[in-house]
Amino acid sequence: MILHALPLVALLFQVRPVHGVRISVVGKDTWHSSSNDENLHGRQTKTASLANIGNTQYATNITIGGKPFTVSIDTGSSDLWVAADVPTATQTTLTAELDYAIGSVQGSIQFAETTFAGLTVPKQAFLSVKPDAVKNMTNDGTKGLIGIGPSSSSVVRKKLADASGNPFLDNVFRLNTTTPNIMTVQLSRDGDTGSKVRGLFTIGEVNDDFEKIVNMPRLPVVVLPSSRSDTQHWTTLIDGFIGPNGKNLSIHSSTPGIPNGKLSAVYDTGFTFPQVPKPLSDAIYQQVPGSIFDSDAGFWILPCDQEVNLTVVIGNQKYPIHPWDTSMKLKLNGTPQRCYGAFQPITSAQDGTFDLILGMAFLRNAYMLVNFGDFVDGNLEHQGDPYMQLLSVTDPAEAHQDFVNGRLEGVDTTASQTRFNTTVIDNIVPPPEDNKGKKFFSKNWPYFVGAALVGFTLIFSGCIWSMMRKRRRGAGPYRPLNDPAPAEAVEVREAYSSPDGRRSSPLQE
Ligand SMILES: *[C@@H]1O[C@H](CO)[C@@H](O)[C@H](O)[C@H]1NC(C)=O
Ligand SMILES: *[C@@H]1O[C@H](CO)[C@@H](O)[C@H](O)[C@H]1NC(C)=O
Ligand SMILES: *[C@@H]1O[C@H](CO)[C@@H](O)[C@H](O)[C@H]1NC(C)=O
Ligand SMILES: *[C@@H]1O[C@H](CO)[C@@H](O)[C@H](O)[C@H]1NC(C)=O
Ligand SMILES: *[C@@H]1O[C@H](CO)[C@@H](O)[C@H](O)[C@H]1NC(C)=O
Ligand SMILES: *[C@@H]1O[C@H](CO)[C@@H](O)[C@H](O)[C@H]1NC(C)=O
Repeated sequence: MILHALPLVALLFQVRPVHGVRISVVGKDTWHSSSNDENLHGRQTKTASLANIGNTQYATNITIGGKPFTVSIDTGSSDLWVAADVPTATQTTLTAELDYAIGSVQGSIQFAETTFAGLTVPKQAFLSVKPDAVKNMTNDGTKGLIGIGPSSSSVVRKKLADASGNPFLDNVFRLNTTTPNIMTVQLSRDGDTGSKVRGLFTIGEVNDDFEKIVNMPRLPVVVLPSSRSDTQHWTTLIDGFIGPNGKNLSIHSSTPGIPNGKLSAVYDTGFTFPQVPKPLSDAIYQQVPGSIFDSDAGFWILPCDQEVNLTVVIGNQKYPIHPWDTSMKLKLNGTPQRCYGAFQPITSAQDGTFDLILGMAFLRNAYMLVNFGDFVDGNLEHQGDPYMQLLSVTDPAEAHQDFVNGRLEGVDTTASQTRFNTTVIDNIVPPPEDNKGKKFFSKNWPYFVGAALVGFTLIFSGCIWSMMRKRRRGAGPYRPLNDPAPAEAVEVREAYSSPDGRRSSPLQE
């Protein structure tokens, strides 16, 4: 019974490990195969692997109406769409438009049997989009997007005006009420050959490598009033940041109703770069000698050999960020390869419900669990308040060694790196006016992937993956009209030194 879902999960974890099926994303590992797992434990797989596309996008496989699709996975939105015809689908006369921070899609609402993570929903609502109705969103290697945010933010559900429009996960939880209504997301880091962390998505269970997540503090989801429920996201309060000099960065929330000393943060796998108030981004990167703010790009640019240590404090727990995630190596079109501060000043319209967005560069460092609680549409029985849990998966010492190997050719000079003091900062982000950005968010907030990249090339272990993608930072109302055209970018993945000391990856210089 769903009523008992929580205690049941807890019990399961205590009594015996949970056997999720884990599939390697990187592809070289010997993860146990799904067939073995099913035979041994008689369980359905409830996991899907997430392919990492250059640390800027995460993709997964889904079957709609018998056809396989690779789609982006987005915790920041709540609708499913594919840029294709699904011949076996049931048509409706309804259409919908989904607006993302970057681009939009428009299509017809249809129903089809849909399988994801080994779970099947017989009649799943989705949007079938004509390829030319995909505006400004070139998802490399993917044909659509699965939104796994709260159902109240679903545009398709709103159009259908009843439970038939529910997002996939809500349908799964309603179809089988003994499935605990949790999902977990784990993002891998390209270039990180030593890491145990694989790109993985699970429904109703946790990855047994990281089952300690169920003991982490439960972070209540910040629930918006029903008048704003169509902008509801996976949002919690966070405590703050410890900056590169090891001291707290104190920053005030500009979100109404947030307790003193806390910030309101959205967890969004659709955002490559965490979006933080500009004073916070400034305070982080101004501590680093040689840093400059590129106002065209909207990024801080850093000397690549400067290690930026940053820790996010949430629920009194520390979540250290890998230095490759605080300073990302990119090659913007026509400029030399440089390192960019990934905790980027927020450029999207803010709707007054959050201070910052913790995107991929944060989520690679924390395994994330979401308990949907009462957010499951229909609220069949009282399911409790929704909450989230986060487990740090970044060991600061190992991450530091990665940095030394990848950026300093194995010679640790970081002890002599000076850090300036910027400990107290004011959040000068203006509180949003009522209508600014409202249209944008009232439909569907979802920010789409690659918040700042047009294209990138990956170079890793001798393999070169070239891919182009659109870059478009969120076109919010605070964006100057004369912003320059988006630049193209190339991301160069970090290289490890091989055991014999040679670089294992031909970095572009
Ligand atoms: C998706 O399916 C294709 C074809 O079967 C496979 O090559 C790819 O690895 C799969 N991707 C993921 C993320 O599972
Ligand atoms: C797509 O990009 C073009 C030019 O880059 C812009 O004029 C247009 O408004 C954009 N469309 C959307 C839906 O964002
Ligand atoms: C429902 O889920 C439970 C546990 O996750 C599983 O044992 C059971 O077989 C599922 N039932 C159906 C009809 O899929
Ligand atoms: C730094 O912030 C944490 C909470 O984020 C707090 O517990 C701690 O006392 C602060 N330390 C200082 C020196 O202010
Ligand atoms: C960053 O932290 C590591 C320990 O985790 C430390 O060894 C290194 O010197 C620090 N780097 C800087 C620039 O402070
Ligand atoms: C930062 O502040 C400390 C005292 O809090 C001081 O000792 C140190 O010299 C300052 N560092 C810089 C680079 O200004």
